[in-house]
Amino acid sequence: MIRFDHSSAHTFLEPDALQKAFEQAKTAFGKVQSKTGHGPEWLGWRDILSDPNDALLSEVDSLAQSIRNDADVFIVCGIGGSYLGARAVIDALTPHFGAGKGPEIIYAGHHMSGTYLRDLMNYLKAPKADGSPKSVYVNVISKSGTTTETALAFRVIRKWIHETYDDAKKRIVCTTSQSGGALNKLIDANGYKKFVLPDDVGGRFSVLTPVGLLPIAVAGVDIRNLFYGAVSAYNEIEKNPDDLLTYASTRLALYNSGKAMDMIASFEPELGGMGGWMQQLFGESEGKNGKGMFPVLLGFSTDLHSVGQMVQEGQRNMMETFLVVDNAPKAIIVEEEDGDTDGLNYLAGKSFHEINSKAYLGTREAHVEGGVPCISIHFDKLDEEHVGRFIYLCEIAIAVYVYCLDENPFDQPGVEAYKKAMFRLLGKPGA
Ligand code: PA5
Repeated sequence: MIRFDHSSAHTFLEPDALQKAFEQAKTAFGKVQSKTGHGPEWLGWRDILSDPNDALLSEVDSLAQSIRNDADVFIVCGIGGSYLGARAVIDALTPHFGAGKGPEIIYAGHHMSGTYLRDLMNYLKAPKADGSPKSVYVNVISKSGTTTETALAFRVIRKWIHETYDDAKKRIVCTTSQSGGALNKLIDANGYKKFVLPDDVGGRFSVLTPVGLLPIAVAGVDIRNLFYGAVSAYNEIEKNPDDLLTYASTRLALYNSGKAMDMIASFEPELGGMGGWMQQLFGESEGKNGKGMFPVLLGFSTDLHSVGQMVQEGQRNMMETFLVVDNAPKAIIVEEEDGDTDGLNYLAGKSFHEINSKAYLGTREAHVEGGVPCISIHFDKLDEEHVGRFIYLCEIAIAVYVYCLDENPFDQPGVEAYKKAMFRLLGKPGA
């Protein structure tokens, strides 16, 4: 299960403010359910869970397994919602080091660094340790099919794949909207395999569509358990939304009390990608018309030694959301050492997980004493089912919260501003 702990946040809030926020969240949830709030045409991320498409899951899984059997490298080419969800799940559920039995997953198209792309191409071209060439596949993911970062990287990778492999066509898989966009023209011209991202699912809400599911399955993660974890959360919340509404309304009451930043923090580096996904989901959904909290991603205890001072004693305009794993494998136990020269024998017999847990509890205690309200979101354990549940919880929580701000959670008009200026500077025709 995923469990919320608001005890270290509610002490900062007046009961009346909390109650008022809860009532607002309840009304907002009703609007999501009845499709009567902002952007009702973007609620497809709920529909895919109320009516699961098992045939699609099988199709994605079967292609992923054949890629796993043949590829040394699988490139995920996308930006924002077109790659962060896949990266989050892959980081959370696969080992930190070594690709295991499957291909190495490499991300591209998420920025425009020529140095990165040059290094990537050199790496792809370099033979394996046994001297044989690498087998490379790419999944280009772009709902609009026109995003410059993704399209540019794909142009370079696609050309190289066509020049290098006789079976180039099968090595290129595209995920995009049903129609429109330059990517659909390339698909039509070359006959690439295509998965569709439905029009009613926005990029940052798309991880449980082929956008996220194909890369996740290629990485060896069980997409059925992931997907059905989200389905379980959906069904449970439809029946009893109170825990979810308490989370959304606590966050709302903190925002109403003047908090301007939500620091998403975890002591588990494998949850860094999940925090990054959450950062985008929250930031792009709530940052509108001068409203919303800035989501900041922190990796502890690393960042306690970089911005910990600021959190403890800087401006009191922040709240903190901890992502906590309750039951992690007891991977390494600290051993007793003769002489205790490093003074660590007091930890002998304890697992790193136990020690890390105390670091979390100590940090939360210190931050609360320093005036930072903290919400903790607990994963009972880190597996496909829990990650799937967490994904839906975040999606529905931010939709409800943004409805309470009287904004549309599903658009991102502000993202166009930098593109407009960049296209003018680049001399794009018509810009
Ligand atoms: O959440 C969103 O909609 C955005 O982050 C998009 O996913 C991102 O801008 C990439 O867009 P596209 O998939 O059209 O290339």
